Amino acid sequence: MPILEVENIHSYYGNIHALKGISLTVEKGEIVTLIGANGAGKSTTLRTISGLMKPREGHVRFDGEDLAPFKPHDLIFKGMSMVPEGRRIFARLTVSENLEMGAYTRKSGPDIAADLERVFTLFPRLKERRKQVGGTLSGGEQQMLATGRALMAHPRLLLMDEPSMGLAPVLVESIFDTIIQINKEGTTILLVEQNALMALSIASRGYVLQTGEIVVQDTAEELKKNKMIQKSYLGME
Ligand SMILES: Nc1ncnc2c1ncn2[C@@H]1O[C@H](COP(=O)(O)OP(=O)(O)OP(=O)(O)O)[C@@H](O)[C@H]1O
Ligand SMILES: [Mg+2]
Repeated sequence: MPILEVENIHSYYGNIHALKGISLTVEKGEIVTLIGANGAGKSTTLRTISGLMKPREGHVRFDGEDLAPFKPHDLIFKGMSMVPEGRRIFARLTVSENLEMGAYTRKSGPDIAADLERVFTLFPRLKERRKQVGGTLSGGEQQMLATGRALMAHPRLLLMDEPSMGLAPVLVESIFDTIIQINKEGTTILLVEQNALMALSIASRGYVLQTGEIVVQDTAEELKKNKMIQKSYLGME
């Protein structure tokens, strides 16, 4: 059974039909990527999966269970967490406090301390800055903090919306290395990226979204060889 199964979802903003029947699956242990141009519906897909938006039609199943009755915070308890687009950290809380907020679904102290250490190992910069308030971190550091915070919930499935956005090339490399690391430690990942080349280099499979519809789905290897993908998303002629 896939850990995530999205079946024919239709989502709307008022009467704008943003998702027109999206279906996808993610198997346990995979990194799957969703690529597409601006406005294609990538963030809307993640918002619908995480319960922030309710689909007007279709189903989202997590571990085989239909998520329709649940609220976004229920899903965090179930083991799904999201690094939203644009980071959304708590600007007035310190780095440590932001990370602790990510663990609010959990109770035991020692576990949380161990997770905090794990996040600090993945992002040594956050450890150095643990007493600094979130709002004064650089963009890249805020990205690390948003990812670290999502990891504090100990997700089995992590939804990431454009983790490389706005980062310097050296940080892009490091965020992708971190994604591989998180995945190796047992977290399944659904990754939305405009940096399609990087995304396809770490994912096993991918889906291409165009104006609210999936137009191609394949293994990452095949997608990299696909002429249309090369031209439209990989900047190759
Ligand atoms: N809050 C909103 N109200 C109305 N329309 C919206 C809203 N959010 C998104 N949309 C529209 O829904 C469509 C899909 O948007 P979405 O944010 O999912 O795109 P995206 O693929 O994530 O794009 P980007 O790469 O720019 O982040 C777009 O046409 C967008 O204008
Ligand atoms: Mg988006």
